[in-house]
Amino acid sequence: MGSILVNGCIPLQGKVRIQGSKNAALPILAACLLVEGDVWLENCPKIADVYRMIRILRSLGCMAVWEGRGLHINTNRMNCGELPAEAVTGMRSSLFLLGALIGRNREVFMEYPGGCVIGKRPIDIHLDALSRMGVVFEEKDGMLHARTSQPEGCEYLLPFPSVGATENMILAAVMARGVTIVRGAAREPEVVSLCEFLNACGADIEGVGTDELRIEGGLPLSGIVFRIPPDRIVAGTYLFATMITAGSVLLEQAPVKHMEEVIRVAESMGAECQETREGLFVQGPGRPVCPERISTQVYPGFPTDLQSMLLVCCCVAEGESRIWETIFENRFRIVEPLQQMGANLWMEGTQTVCVKGVERLAGQTVEARELRGGAALVLAGLTAYGDTRITGTEFIDRGYENICRDLRELGARITSV
Ligand code: EPZ
Repeated sequence: MGSILVNGCIPLQGKVRIQGSKNAALPILAACLLVEGDVWLENCPKIADVYRMIRILRSLGCMAVWEGRGLHINTNRMNCGELPAEAVTGMRSSLFLLGALIGRNREVFMEYPGGCVIGKRPIDIHLDALSRMGVVFEEKDGMLHARTSQPEGCEYLLPFPSVGATENMILAAVMARGVTIVRGAAREPEVVSLCEFLNACGADIEGVGTDELRIEGGLPLSGIVFRIPPDRIVAGTYLFATMITAGSVLLEQAPVKHMEEVIRVAESMGAECQETREGLFVQGPGRPVCPERISTQVYPGFPTDLQSMLLVCCCVAEGESRIWETIFENRFRIVEPLQQMGANLWMEGTQTVCVKGVERLAGQTVEARELRGGAALVLAGLTAYGDTRITGTEFIDRGYENICRDLRELGARITSV
């Protein structure tokens, strides 16, 4: 079990390159199963979830090799639809394989995709949507068996703009017979990237970026070179790190146009943000000011994946905040560790946390229990007196190429041990 040691209270200075987006890369990796010929994914992030997805593709007989910062993939020789158990349990992002394998193989055996500590992570919407496309599901001994002769185009209104369910429908629909209309679709930039990738391969998806997609099925998809966009959540993580250390940092290649609400909130807390040719320059305030109330929303609202980082920032800000998590039912796992570090925060029901800012936190040994909460605990260490040890850093490695390297380059006293 890895750990990170941080000695806090150093203002971050300098510039950091923002890695490729985890949540754009994962569905695109699944989409490669539908593409004939070679695909090169430039700027693919070197993170644990991508390595795991590569293992899954290789276990299915596909070729996937790193060439510099790019990934070269060819799935022509794919052999079966049964996913190895190791690959599927505990990783939500393998769920995209359901839609892709239905589109390619017409049949999938997989273990129920694991949830994680941020919530039950049900898949009812995925199953209902794909059933409407003619996919028959059976559950036997914890395994999910999906099969169809051919996915059929349909019209479907998502009961909730689920990112994964939208992406699974897209992956099945590009191979379906006829046209699929998805209403109430998720509009996250990562859904847009998937559509852009598929359209570049030869698909015909209209309404990209809106909540209504029209997908023409059955068009042949050919290999391309595609650049994975920068990760807006990693960029937001380092934006909040700059704010809580009163630093001044250039976030190179930050996807500013996909960070509007995050930037609006940061500026309301006293940060100065300036878009430049290289990305986003952030000047943290001497001490942030608490936003009175914030709720996480689907895109383009404030992203749930940055809720923990915002919470840490509020812990050392002036004033009081109420943060309402509306997307996941258990995304306040860092409240307790933050209390151990001297933060003054408390729960109001199960979905709202109230926080009254204190001057500084105090270094402690704390445990990461999931990806974004773990990254937020690193930020807490950056703003704490003394040393903070964060254990369970394998969770952080799922989404950050090297958080220690990035923050050390900005002057932080941080090492992985
Ligand atoms: C994607 O997860 C992201 N993961 C998450 O990022 C992100 O937090 C989330 O979208 C919301 O933006 C990837 O893209 C790999 P949802 P996903 O389906 O697709 C409920 C990170 O840290 N729901 O939009 O699983 C669900 O329980 C991760 O990078 C159902 O009820 O998110 C949740 O409460 C964490 N039934 C809400 O919808 C379903 O069938 C949002 O889930 C599907 C979802």
